[in-house]
Amino acid sequence: MQVRQAASLALVVSACGGAPMPLTRPEATHVHGAHGPLVHRFQSAEQWAKELDDPARDEWQKPAEVVAAMRLEPGATVADLGAGTGYFEPLLSRGVGASGIVLALDVEPDMVRYLGERAQREHLANVRPGLVATDDPKLAPQTVDRILVVDVWHHIDARDAYVVKLRDALKPGGKLFVVDFEPDAKHGPPPRHRLASATVERELATAGLAAATLTETLPEQYIVVGTRP
Ligand SMILES: C[S@@+](CC[C@H](N)C(=O)[O-])C[C@H]1O[C@@H](n2cnc3c(N)ncnc32)[C@H](O)[C@@H]1O
Repeated sequence: MQVRQAASLALVVSACGGAPMPLTRPEATHVHGAHGPLVHRFQSAEQWAKELDDPARDEWQKPAEVVAAMRLEPGATVADLGAGTGYFEPLLSRGVGASGIVLALDVEPDMVRYLGERAQREHLANVRPGLVATDDPKLAPQTVDRILVVDVWHHIDARDAYVVKLRDALKPGGKLFVVDFEPDAKHGPPPRHRLASATVERELATAGLAAATLTETLPEQYIVVGTRP
């Protein structure tokens, strides 16, 4: 693992993970702090699926590379925090196999409904959707091998307290993966809501996780990993 230098210029504004889009969609509500988290509702899963599950997203999101970096093992328990419409669920489900569990967690009831329907439709029997609170992932202590947080970290408030809950949920040796946008990414939230990888590393380290930024080939994002000792 090596620390990758973050680029410095932020130019393009978009709401979420997919194609650049206006911030005033009728079903979305936002509260913009000066540099705080982007408080952003993700109602109407079907609407968001058009963006989050757009096949064109694969080019820059590189989901297979993200999941490969997680080194999932058969039988593992993985939590996808802020799972959205379940873009990562097929890969995570395959990665942990029939004896594993994928906890697909989100704060939006409509996303959780959609995740359940998608799991049924795509025969992802090990995927368990769950509704969580914005300040609590509701994970029992030392029950999870891997936690994946893609394009969500910048939405979370009071992250120093939140990451402690994630750390506690990890088994010893378990890992938290935070994937988020570089300052100069074409996609992603408005520039003032972007977080440098060094900031995320520091937040994970403050909770006692061994934190590092992975070397990868994602064109617009970093992957920060935190390992529970
Ligand atoms: C940009 S979408 C990303 C969805 C998914 N991770 C992906 O990569 O396709 C952000 C998702 O995170 C959810 N979310 C936002 N804040 C959250 C929180 N504190 N805990 C769990 N989910 C959250 C939203 O409801 C939304 O579904």
